[in-house]
Amino acid sequence: MCGIIACRTAESAADYLRIGLRRLEYRGYDSVGVAIQTATGDIARVRTIERIDTLDRLLADWSGPAFAGAGLGHTRWATHGSVTESNAHPHNDCEDRISLVHNGIIDNADTLRASLTIAGHSFDSDVDSEVLCHLIEDRLQLCGDLFEAVRLALVEVEGSWGLAVLERGTGRIVVAANRCPLLVAHTPDGAFATSDIAAIADWVDEFRVLEDGDIVDLVSPPRWSRQEGIGASLPPVHRCAWRSTDAELNGYADHMAKEIDEQAELVSGALDSYGSRIADGSLWAEYGMEPFERLHVVGCGTSLNAGRVIANLVRRLGGIPVRCSTASEVADEIAEPGTLSLAISQSGETTDVLRALETPAVCETPMLALTNSAHSALARRADAVMLCGAGPEIGVAATKTFICQIVAGTALMISALVGMGRLTRAAAVDLVDDLRYLPDRLGHAGVKAKCVVPRIAEEISSASGMIFIARGNGIPYAAEGALKVKELTYCWAEHHSAGELKHGPLALIGVGTVVIVVDNDDPRLRANIAEVQSRGGRIVSIGRYADSTVQVASIPSAPWGPIESTVPLQILARSMAMSLGRDVDKPRNLAKSVTVE
Ligand code: F6R
Repeated sequence: MCGIIACRTAESAADYLRIGLRRLEYRGYDSVGVAIQTATGDIARVRTIERIDTLDRLLADWSGPAFAGAGLGHTRWATHGSVTESNAHPHNDCEDRISLVHNGIIDNADTLRASLTIAGHSFDSDVDSEVLCHLIEDRLQLCGDLFEAVRLALVEVEGSWGLAVLERGTGRIVVAANRCPLLVAHTPDGAFATSDIAAIADWVDEFRVLEDGDIVDLVSPPRWSRQEGIGASLPPVHRCAWRSTDAELNGYADHMAKEIDEQAELVSGALDSYGSRIADGSLWAEYGMEPFERLHVVGCGTSLNAGRVIANLVRRLGGIPVRCSTASEVADEIAEPGTLSLAISQSGETTDVLRALETPAVCETPMLALTNSAHSALARRADAVMLCGAGPEIGVAATKTFICQIVAGTALMISALVGMGRLTRAAAVDLVDDLRYLPDRLGHAGVKAKCVVPRIAEEISSASGMIFIARGNGIPYAAEGALKVKELTYCWAEHHSAGELKHGPLALIGVGTVVIVVDNDDPRLRANIAEVQSRGGRIVSIGRYADSTVQVASIPSAPWGPIESTVPLQILARSMAMSLGRDVDKPRNLAKSVTVE
C-alpha cells in the first residue's frame, strides 16, 4: 500500500527520491508526491494523481531554486479520502513550515481536526494524515524544536503511523513509527528512512527498524527517542537482503513471469539448506518451541491458502487437529490449550494478521511466524520465525512466496512431527526424498503449461467468470487459482469443494461455463466433472490423468497435495490477464502489503 521515503543527502534529494519512489511502485499507488528542500531553504512540493513518470517530468521541468539534499517522497493508496492532488502526500501545515508524509490510520482524526480548526488551523485535504501536520505545527509554535514537537504531538494521537516530517529552513527530518513499518539507515550517501527497504536498497547495506513509539531525528548519528526512555538500547541492525538488480526483469516481459520461473530453483535452494535437518527433527528443535497438540493457522489471501496446505499436511501426517482462520475474523475464536499458532504473511506487515496476534486465540498460545521478511512486525512479535526465503517478490499478486511458504512450512512441520514423536524418521526420509523431486516437477509443469495454457487462456478470457473445483488437499490450490484469476483479470472466479457443487453452485453452470478442475487423483472428481459436462460446462483440468487438459506430474499421495498445479494455475491467470490487456504486475486495487484493517 502507501510507501514512504525520506532522505538527507549531500546531492539533490530529487535524484534519490525518484529512484526510491520507482522502487515503491510495485506496492500499488494512486497518487505520488515529494517535498524537497531547495537552495533557498524553502520546501518545494510536487504531487500528482498520475503515474511516477509524470512526477519525473514535473521534477525535470522544475524551474524554481535548485533542489538541496533533504526531501520526502510518498506513494499513496487511497483509503481515507478520494484520489485527488490535495489528498496526495506530502501535506503541509498552515504556514508551509513543515511537510509531512504518513502511512497508517489516525483513529481520533475527527476529534483532532475539530479542535485544531477551532484553534485556527485550516485544512486543505480530506485525509486523516493532515491532522498530524497541523498538530505538529501547533506544538512547534510552542517549543520551537521539530523533534520535541513531533514527540508532543504524538502523545495526542491514537492510531497507527509511519511518518516523516521535513522542516523548512533547517532541512531537518524527523521520523516516527507506531504499528506501521519504518526503518532508518545511515550510509556514505546520507541518511534515509523508508517504509520498505526496497526503496533505499541501492544505497544501504544495514538498517534499523523503528519499534512502536520510536521517534528518530535523521541526523548522523541519529537522535533516537524510545518508549523505554533514555538509555534504552537501539533496535538491532539488519542487513539489507534487497539488491537493485532484484528489480530488473532480465529479459522477462514482467515480474510475474520471472517470479513464476524462479520457483523451482528457490525450492531446490530451500531443500538444500534444510538438508538432513528435516527428517531428523533438528530443524524443529532449532526453534525451541514446545510440542503442540493442535495447530491454529492464521493468515489472509494467498498466505492463508498456503497455510491450509500446511494444516492439511499436519493433520494427515501427525493426526493433529488443525484449524485455519482468516486473520480478520479471529477475534471471536477461543484459545485451546496445547495449541501452536502459525501466523503466515509474506510481508509480515499485514494489519489483519498483526491485529489477530492481539486476540486471545493467538496471544494466549506460542506463536510461530512464517514470513518472507525477517525484520517485519510479525517477525518481531513472534516467539520464533521461519523465513520462507522467496527473496524480493515484485509482482503484486503473490506467486513464488506461495510456493516458498508451502515448502518452508512443510519442511518445518515434518521436522516438528518427527521431533514430537508423531512421525518416524524413516517416514520423514521418504517424504524428503519425494520433496527432492519437487523442483523438477515444478520446472516440468512450467514447460508444459507454457505450451498449452496460453491458448486455453485466450479461448476462455472472454468468459465473465469461472469456477474452480477440487477435493481434499487440492482445495487450497483451487482457492489460490481462483484468487489469482480474480486479482489479475478482474473477472469473478470462485472455488468450491467439488462435492459441494450439487448443493447449489451447479445452478451457475450453463453451456460454456468454464470450470477449472484441480485434479489430485481423487476418483470422486470424475463424477463431479460429469455433472458439469452434462450441463454443457467447459472443463479445463489440471492434473495427472492422461485426459487432463493440462498434464502435470505430481505425486498422487503427497501430503502437501498437488503443488505442481500451482504453476499452470499461475500461468493461466497471467495469460488470461494479458489477453484482457491487464497489468499483471500491478493489478488494480491490490496492494503488496495491506496495512489497513
Ligand atoms: C494474493 C495477495 C494477497 C495477499 C494477502 C496477504 O496475490 O497478494 O491476497 O496474499 O494480502 O498478504 P501477506 O502475505 O503479506 O500477509
